[in-house]
Amino acid sequence: MSVVKVMDHPLIQHKIGIIRRTETGSKDFRQMISEIAMLMCYEATRELKLEDVEIETPICKTTVKQLQGKKLAVVPILRAGLGMVEGMLNIIPAAKVGHIGLYRDPETLNPVEYFCKLPADCSEREVYVVDPMLATGGSATAAIQMLKEKGVRNIHFMCIIAAPEGIAKMQEVHPDVDIYIGAKDEHLNDHGYIVPGLGDAGDRIFGTK
Ligand code: PRP
Ligand code: URA
Repeated sequence: MSVVKVMDHPLIQHKIGIIRRTETGSKDFRQMISEIAMLMCYEATRELKLEDVEIETPICKTTVKQLQGKKLAVVPILRAGLGMVEGMLNIIPAAKVGHIGLYRDPETLNPVEYFCKLPADCSEREVYVVDPMLATGGSATAAIQMLKEKGVRNIHFMCIIAAPEGIAKMQEVHPDVDIYIGAKDEHLNDHGYIVPGLGDAGDRIFGTK
């Protein structure tokens, strides 16, 4: 079964408090999403494996650590996931970036796919799928299914706010995918919005509505 980790670092929790507020405008909202993603990325990459390698300093030979194995990729779910990319790349600047375009049909809440462009060697990479919101779980599970169909096997999912319903769906459909969460909220309302949540993440990042 996957790991579900709520990242309770005080800075992450403080910044989530700011993005929840109705009065936080797009500029600050974007900034906070990016900073939260950076902090979450720092915590999530704690799991990466290291290996010993022999090097020479200007003084002598010594053994140092370096990251072992797979290279990394970040895959935002459009649109709102885009807000997390810059923060992720601040921590893992060599990562490649893929994009998956999905939107929720407002009536059925089912995800509708409209774009998928991944790094050519994505199946050889460790992939972090990012989206600020995990509500019903429809978008995240569909995005991860798309990656698996393209041969990607090492997948992590990172979101800022998650509903219990979305976490349960992720664990049922993709029990092999670790989930990193900023805050676990109470439930979904009748329109599929997370309560207390923060409203529509995409609209708040991009100032649309
Ligand atoms: C939001 C959010 C997730 C999805 C979560 O995107 O960014 O992708 O909803 O809901 P779910 O877990 O029920 O699928 P939305 O469909 O509003 O698209 P947008 O990012 O373009 O605004
Ligand atoms: N998508 C959002 O942006 N917010 C929610 O609360 C649920 C889905």
